This record gives sequence, C-alpha cells and structure tokens, in this order.
Amino acid sequence: MSGMDNLAGRVAVVTGGASGIGRAIARRLIGQGMTVVIADIEQSALERAAAETGAVGICTNVASYESVQALADEVKRRFGGVHLVCNNAGVASTASVADMSLSDWAWLLGVNLWGVIHGIKAFLPLLKANPDGGYLVNTASVAGFHATPGLGGYTVSKFAVVALSESLALELKADGSKVGLTILCPGPVSTKLGSSQRNRPNELAGGAFVDRDLEALEEGGGLRWIDADAVADVLLTAIKRGDLYAFTHPEWASIVCARHRQIAEALVGATALRECERLSQKETDH
Ligand SMILES: NC(=O)c1ccc[n+]([C@@H]2O[C@H](COP(=O)([O-])OP(=O)(O)OC[C@H]3O[C@@H](n4cnc5c(N)ncnc54)[C@H](O)[C@@H]3O)[C@@H](O)[C@H]2O)c1
Repeated sequence: MSGMDNLAGRVAVVTGGASGIGRAIARRLIGQGMTVVIADIEQSALERAAAETGAVGICTNVASYESVQALADEVKRRFGGVHLVCNNAGVASTASVADMSLSDWAWLLGVNLWGVIHGIKAFLPLLKANPDGGYLVNTASVAGFHATPGLGGYTVSKFAVVALSESLALELKADGSKVGLTILCPGPVSTKLGSSQRNRPNELAGGAFVDRDLEALEEGGGLRWIDADAVADVLLTAIKRGDLYAFTHPEWASIVCARHRQIAEALVGATALRECERLSQKETDH
C-alpha cells in the first residue's frame, strides 16, 4: 500500500486528540508542517491540548454518527478537505464478559468500534476525492490479536477494528485506490486510558466496569510502559512507508505467534503443520 511521504501543508484530523496517544500524534503531525484538527469529547482537555499543540480543537462524540459527520463537514468548510484521518479515540475499563451489562457493551463498542466505523463513513469519501489520495489510521491495540481475561469487551472492540481495517485495506488495494491505511497497534502506553469512565455518558451509566490504572497496579508491573511520543514516532514511520501494521512492542510477537500457531494446528493438525513448515523452510534454504 502506498505511504504518505509528504505531509507538509496538508490537513489531518485526529480523534481522541485531547490526551495521550492522540495528542502526541497531533504534536508530531504539526511538527511535520500539517494543519491538525483534534476532535474529542472532553471539552476542557480539548481546549488545553489545542492551546498546547497548536491544533484546532472541535468537540466531537465519535459514538454519534451525526457528531462525526458534523466534524467532517466543518473540516471541509474550514480547510477545503482532509488528507489524513486518525480514528484514535478509545476507552478501556475492566469487567468479566459474564458481568458486563448491556450499557457497558454499548458504551465501549460505541466509542471503540462505532467510532472507527463513523470515521470511515464520514471521511473516506473526502480522502478518495483528493487527486493525490489520502491516508487512514485506525487505532487498535496488541489486544486486537490476543485475548486477556477481564478485558474481554476491550478485546472484542480491538479485534473488530483489526478485522474492519484489514477488510478495508484489501478493498482499497483491489480498487487501486490512492488511499492508504495503517492499523496502529500499541502495547502498554502511559496515558489516561485507565480513567476512561471520566467520559462515559450518563445515559449509558450502570454496569460492572471498573476503571483500573494498570500501570500503577502490580499486574502492570511486568509490562513495558512507553510514552505516547514513542507511539507517534512509530506511527509516523508507518504512514510514510504505507505499512499496514504499526506495532510498538515487538516482544509481544511470541504471544501473537503462539495464538496463530494454535489456530493453524487446529486447522491442519500438528503433524501436517510441521510438514508445511519443513517444506517452506526447504524452499527458503534453496
Ligand atoms: N494506553 C494504552 O496502553 C493503549 C494501548 C493500545 C491501544 N490504545 C488505544 O489508543 C487510543 C488512545 O487512547 P489513550 O491511551 O491515548 O487514552 P486517553 O484516555 O489518554 O485518550 C483517549 C482520548 O479519547 C477521548 N474520547 C473518549 N471517548 C470519546 C468519544 N466518545 N468521542 C471522542 N473522544 C473520546 C478521551 O477524551 C481522550 O482524550 C485508544 O483507542 C486506545 O484503545 C491505548
């Protein structure tokens, strides 16, 4: 897939841009000479982030299609179009799947999955309309590739973002589209994700979700926490190269490979899988 090498003078939109990874992405893109619109539901944080980064802040609820369409209309009206859209807003809270209420599901999937769907629906036509194409970034997670107990809802949303993005990437390629796509898949990053319920609307209150700052808890101690600027650096390289996946934590490869191996073994049987691997190794050696 083609990358977007020349960012200067172009327009970007970053959802969830008032905090953490989104704010760091906005800062990096502005450093590349882009005009950046940050869209977020948390008005006060949005105003602070806009003042700090030099981005334009537009209050948006990504869980509402009307709100995201209004964002796209406003960006088009003010800047004439858009070249790069980062569907990044997200929330995470913990509960077992068995305990999650329907409002837990509605809130989480509304932001993490429908937010990305709304972003694609509202912005893809604008990206396609550019003669020189455009670029989409959908923020998933390493949680989009393996399941963790207590994070089932989050895992469902991120697997879905990976599936959605992989499908769209195949379709764009088949169409010979000039729109590129990267799936951002961070590992643990120090942000405010552990207090996500600060932005949960009252109409979706009630359920089993608990906000947990994993970084501050013992179970987060074995993880390698990185800062959001490091994620933005990885993403920038991926956008310029046109990489489908942007991972920040290569050490998770063994977990992802183990899952894929289990699936492949279930598909063809362990013996047949070993034979496939032996044959492909033989081909590589020659
Ligand atoms: N922090 C991590 O360890 C980590 C790891 C992998 C993936 N991610 C993903 O990165 C993305 C950014 O999260 P973060 O870690 O920077 O957390 P964060 O809480 O610091 O930032 C998320 C932003 O999304 C905004 N937001 C929440 N609901 C919204 C809504 N309905 N509409 C618009 N904006 C909304 C919040 O106000 C906040 O500014 C998320 O998609 C998250 O799932 C984070």
